[in-house]
Amino acid sequence: MLLKGHTTFKIGGPAKSFFRPADILRLRRVINSARERGEKVLILGAGSNILADDRGVDAVVVKLDAECFQKISNDGGIVEVGAGKLLSRLLAYCAQKGLSGAEFLAGIPGTVGGALAMNAGISINKRKLAIGDLVERVLVLDYNNNLKVLERAKLKFGYRQSCFAKYVILGASLKLIPRDSEFVGKKIAGYISLRKTAQDWAWPNAGCVFKNPENDSAGRLIDSCGLKGRRIGGAQISHKHANFILNIERASSRDVLALMKEIKRLVKKKNKIILKLEIKIWK
Ligand code: EPU
Repeated sequence: MLLKGHTTFKIGGPAKSFFRPADILRLRRVINSARERGEKVLILGAGSNILADDRGVDAVVVKLDAECFQKISNDGGIVEVGAGKLLSRLLAYCAQKGLSGAEFLAGIPGTVGGALAMNAGISINKRKLAIGDLVERVLVLDYNNNLKVLERAKLKFGYRQSCFAKYVILGASLKLIPRDSEFVGKKIAGYISLRKTAQDWAWPNAGCVFKNPENDSAGRLIDSCGLKGRRIGGAQISHKHANFILNIERASSRDVLALMKEIKRLVKKKNKIILKLEIKIWK
């Protein structure tokens, strides 16, 4: 099973093994046996924030896209949603039921679990909105492979970071506000068009490659180094948004890594800022 088929970058060789468990019981079995063998376990969401090595990934990769991990329900504005649910599906549900608060996630090509792990969000006029702000509680498997509910008070979220590294996220309760469906639908459409205007989704990519440094934009900094359009092998820095690396012609993971290195070197030289990676490298 090649990971290139499961990442939005369309890059990545085989995982050591690849599972799509049908339910929590089977997921726990997969994790237990991997741990018994001393193998690393990586959970794959929509694969939109990952650069996977073409030579393969030394881990048991688990994708939670079975029906069981995609359930959704609403009780007076508290939405319970499975980790494997695509954000686009969550938002379609919110629009249909008239639930507001999550619209800013529109256009992010991820799952609920991936978004929670990364604390996905957006920055608008220096204001940061992220999924962590909506969370009431999260259902996880802990390091002993036991089910555990983590209440809001115990959760820590930061800019593109969360406290779930040692857990497997199974689902979450999000606190939303009942509004009329039309209002929610219009807001979602607004966020999608904002994203389409600013970002480059014409070629396979993994969204913003670097995190924004404090009070600045990585895209602006990379742009100011004149790097738009710079190409190494099949990978190219977008002409539209400089924090996007595009797979324009069968790019290898090595091509992308080389471009990242070049970006970091030039931004450090010109702006004295060390950019930090937002995307995760799997090898
Ligand atoms: N800019 C440039 N040149 C570029 C790109 C941007 O000058 O090539 C300037 C823009 O003109 C703007 C500023 O930089 O003045 C910020 O750009 P933008 O509004 O595109 O936002 P961003 O900071 O680059 C952040 C998130 C995005 C999120 C948008 C939504 C990070 C690293 N990026 O981007 O998230 O979609 O806000 O507004 O936090 C992601 O995390 O993968 C991602 C794409």
